[in-house]
Amino acid sequence: IRTQADALYRPTIHYSPERGFMNDPNGLIHDGTVYHLYYQYDPFAPYAGRVHWGHATSTDLLGWEDQPIALSETPEGEAFTGCAVLDAQNTSSLFPSGKGGLVALYTRATPKKQTQFLAISDDQGKSFKDIAHNPVLDIGSNSFRDPKVIFHKPTGQWVMVVAKARLHQIAFYASTDLQHWTHTSDFGPSGLFGVDYECPNLIEIPIEGGGSRWVLFISVNPGAPTGGSTTQYFVGTFDGSRFTPDDTVIGLTDFAKDAYALQCYENMPGNEAVSIAWLGNWQYCQELPTQSWRGCMTLPRLMTLRHDSAGWLRLAQAPRGLEALREAPIPFACPKLAAGASASVPLPLGTALELTLSVTVDQMTPDLPLGDKGRTGRFVIVFGNDLSENLTIGFDAFSGQLWIDRGDLNGFKQPFFTGQFSTALNPDDRNFDVRIVLDACTLEVFANGGLSVGTALLFPANPLSFLKLEATGAGATIETLSFYRLKKVMPR
Ligand code: FRU
Repeated sequence: IRTQADALYRPTIHYSPERGFMNDPNGLIHDGTVYHLYYQYDPFAPYAGRVHWGHATSTDLLGWEDQPIALSETPEGEAFTGCAVLDAQNTSSLFPSGKGGLVALYTRATPKKQTQFLAISDDQGKSFKDIAHNPVLDIGSNSFRDPKVIFHKPTGQWVMVVAKARLHQIAFYASTDLQHWTHTSDFGPSGLFGVDYECPNLIEIPIEGGGSRWVLFISVNPGAPTGGSTTQYFVGTFDGSRFTPDDTVIGLTDFAKDAYALQCYENMPGNEAVSIAWLGNWQYCQELPTQSWRGCMTLPRLMTLRHDSAGWLRLAQAPRGLEALREAPIPFACPKLAAGASASVPLPLGTALELTLSVTVDQMTPDLPLGDKGRTGRFVIVFGNDLSENLTIGFDAFSGQLWIDRGDLNGFKQPFFTGQFSTALNPDDRNFDVRIVLDACTLEVFANGGLSVGTALLFPANPLSFLKLEATGAGATIETLSFYRLKKVMPR
C-alpha cells in the first residue's frame, strides 16, 4: 500500500529505501570509484524484522542509486551491522587473482548467538559471499556485535572495534589477515550505561588549525538523556591496541533524538573524516506514519575537532558538499527587527531547504530591573502553515541556549516522540549562527559552527508553507541570511 503520507514525508536529498524498513548504515566505503552505502534492511515489511544488507551507490554522497541486496539473511542468521574495508594488497589471501577487493565484516545474529562473519566481493561490492570457515570471531555470546575495522598504518595491522553490547564494553582486536583476530583491550563502561553499547567506530579526526586525535564513537540504546537512542564520543589517543581518552568527559553527537548508529567512511579521498547516521530512534521507528517505507539516513557529515573557548576538543559537524545542491536563492531581505516584529516569506513546496543565519539580539534595555522583560530576548525561526502547525527553532539570548520545538506538528503522536530539545551555545554571546536543513520528514540543525547539532524527524500533518522570523522581547539584527532551495537528488 502507498499512502499520501508515504509521498509527503519522503526526503528529496536524504537516502530512504524505496520500500521496507531501514536502520543502521553499514559498510560505508569509497572503493576508489564510487561511495557505497549498505544498510540494515528488511525488504519485506516496514518493521525491523529479517535483516539483510540493502545497498546504494553514489558519486557525491548525496544522490544515491539503488542496488540489489548485497547480503541476505541465511539459516545461519540475520545479517546485522558491520563494515567494509578495501583489502587492496590481498592481505587476506582470499582473492584468487591476488588483486584484492572489498571485504565485509559483520555480525550474523540468531537469538542464541552473535558472531562475526567475513564475506568477500568479486563484483565491486554488488554482492558479498561468506567465506567457508565462518565465523572469524566467536566468543560464545548472544550480545557481541557490530564490528568496525580500520587499517592502522603506524602498526601495519587491521584493527576491529566491536560491541560486547550488554556488558557496556567495546572490545579491540588486531589482525594481519582479516581472518585471525587477537584481543588487545576492552574499553568501558564509560559515559552512559544505557542498556546496550552498539555500533562502535574508531577514527582519527583532524583538529582545526593542525594536528589530529582519535575519536571513539559508541551508540547507546536505550538510555539517552533525551530518551532512547544516542551516540556518545570520546576524544583521545590510540596506539594500535588500546584507546586512551584525554579526559573523563563524554560528548554526544546530537542534542535531539534522531541520529543513531553513526558510521565513519573508510578510504575517503583526501582522508576526510565523514560519517552518516541513521536518522531515527528505536523508541518509535517502527510506528512512524509512513506505510510502504520507513527509515532514512542523515546527510553525510564532515567531522573536525575544534578547541572550544575553554581549550577542550569538541566534535564539529557540517553537511558535506551541500553547496553543490543549491538552486537560485529565495529572496528574503530582513536586516533588522524591532522587539515584537516579524517578517515572513512563503515556502516553495516539495523541495529541501537550507537556511543559514547569523543574528545578534539587542542588548536588553539596561534600565529595566532584572526580571521579566530583561530576560525575554528571544529570536524565533518558525516554519509553519495556516493550520497552526509550527516547527520552531529559537535562540534565547539571556542564557545563550537554542531550542528545537516539533511539538506543534500533528502528523505523528506517540509517547516517546517528544517535542522539545535544547542545547547550550555560548552563554556570554547575544549572537548566534545556525544552518538549518529541512527536507520532508527530516530536520538537521547545525549551530555554533557545527559544535551543536540537532537532528529530528518531523511529521507535519500538512506541508509547511511559510517561514517567519520573529524578534521577541528585544530587537534583533540579522547579520547574514541565505536561503536556498536544494536540488532534488533522490527522486522516488
Ligand atoms: C543498532 C542495532 C545493531 C544491530 C542492528 C540490527 O541499531 O541494534 O546493534 O546490529 O541494529 O538491525
